[in-house]
Amino acid sequence: MILTLEWTSEGVRFIDQTKLPLEETYVLATSYQQVADIIVTMVVRGAPAIGVSAAMGIALGAKQTKAATTEEFVPEFEQICSLLAGTRPTAVNLFWAIDRMKALFAELRTQGTSLAEVQQALLADALAMYDEDIAACKAMGAYGAELMPDEGGVLTHCNAGALATCGYGTALGVIRGAVERGKQIHVYADETRPFLQGARLTAWELMADGIPTTVLCDNMAASMMRQGRIQAVVVGADRIAANGDVANKIGTYSVAILAKEHGIPFYVAAPWSTIDRATATGDAIPIEERNAVEVTHHGGKQLTPHGVGICNPAFDVTPAKYVTAIITERGVLRAPYSESLETMEMATR
Ligand code: MRU
Repeated sequence: MILTLEWTSEGVRFIDQTKLPLEETYVLATSYQQVADIIVTMVVRGAPAIGVSAAMGIALGAKQTKAATTEEFVPEFEQICSLLAGTRPTAVNLFWAIDRMKALFAELRTQGTSLAEVQQALLADALAMYDEDIAACKAMGAYGAELMPDEGGVLTHCNAGALATCGYGTALGVIRGAVERGKQIHVYADETRPFLQGARLTAWELMADGIPTTVLCDNMAASMMRQGRIQAVVVGADRIAANGDVANKIGTYSVAILAKEHGIPFYVAAPWSTIDRATATGDAIPIEERNAVEVTHHGGKQLTPHGVGICNPAFDVTPAKYVTAIITERGVLRAPYSESLETMEMATR
């Protein structure tokens, strides 16, 4: 199994996703500041993995404090949470995980818990999030497998796999679930410019599992669909608004439009921690703008003329009307999403 991130006695260990697929190397974060830097630089990335990384970063910060009591630790705890919350704005799992750690800390304070016990409890909750994430991915895999074709091409965009979670993956979990149940799936992985999560990461982890995979340049999907080579699309999500609008890696929106035009189902797989019912529509989702260098350069080599204008939004929003179904660990949701999200929240709270 791919170890995307892992708590160790020395700190949090991450597979370095900036180096894959050519180098399989690991980075050890021994401070919460290093965890924050690792999230910003995308050594670790993918919404669920970012959330659990932040929780482990908080546990690490708590472990290393010089404070003598829980009350003395309060300002530092707030500083740790605010640094980690400032790393990436779009994936709501980050804020979900930090809020969960804050709520636990507040409860422990009201109980007058000792600092040693607080440290243990924060770590225990971060480790629980890790296990819950893998379990959620496996459940999505089981629900989503039913929706996959018995045989044929499935297109995915970005990397919503083991590398984007604590293991198994969301969109790739659905594909893994289908393959494990005997379906003959051929994956088409969009390369996903500019960070190349598809070409580097999705291709790497699917090949490791022996799942047949072909990498497509980002401009090939329409033609492949027209040729009848794609029977379904499945992607992950960074945030799903209350009306079912989906923020995911830039380029997802165009894939969704293409799928609709060609009559191909477009599925989104995401854990409940990606659903943000406090955000009414996709228009209110903050979209991260990343450094222009990711577009102007590749492998340290400049591709574009000096001084040219560059856009680098990391995500786009796919309106709910393009989404055939949302696959979660609680079940499969269909439109109208404002109603199905509410109903499932109530039924599975
Ligand atoms: O910028 P990234 O690589 O963190 O973006 C990741 C994605 O867009 C994924 O599709 C999303 O986080 C879902 S991961 C299970």
